[in-house]
Amino acid sequence: MSISVKMAEQLNQQVANEFNAAYKYRAMSFCFADMGLKIFAKRFEQQADEERGHAMKIAKYIQDVNAKVELQAVAKPKHDYKSAKEIVEAALKSEETVTSQINALVALAAQENDYATRNFLEWFVEEQVEEVASMRELLQWVTMAGENNLFQLENRIAQSMS
Ligand code: FEO
Repeated sequence: MSISVKMAEQLNQQVANEFNAAYKYRAMSFCFADMGLKIFAKRFEQQADEERGHAMKIAKYIQDVNAKVELQAVAKPKHDYKSAKEIVEAALKSEETVTSQINALVALAAQENDYATRNFLEWFVEEQVEEVASMRELLQWVTMAGENNLFQLENRIAQSMS
């Protein structure tokens, strides 16, 4: 194994974090669908798929460096959001949390002089900048539009997804 036991544990934890994020986004997507906001639902479904992709990318890296992937239980996500804004606020908070998790991994890689893992994590550092920015933008749109005008906002979201 070319990474430390601690790094393998922490990367496995991040696989679980990303699967949890995926599951959370899936639940948010169902909430949007319940509100009749189909484009929001699709946007969050896509995000769930991306998070699953992140989990798989880290899992593959763990295997590439000859460590063992150990999947963990996924937590039950919140399902009773009261408004679109509440969902997007929770999504932004979740992305900020993931950013901290990635930063902690980068710090561990630096501390251990683990250049391969540090290099691997660069993609995630950039991805988090983009994901936080895009969720912050969506929150601005939802706040400006107000809960009663979200159907009109859906066209704009559809454009941003294409
Ligand atoms: Fe994979 Fe959006 O964190």
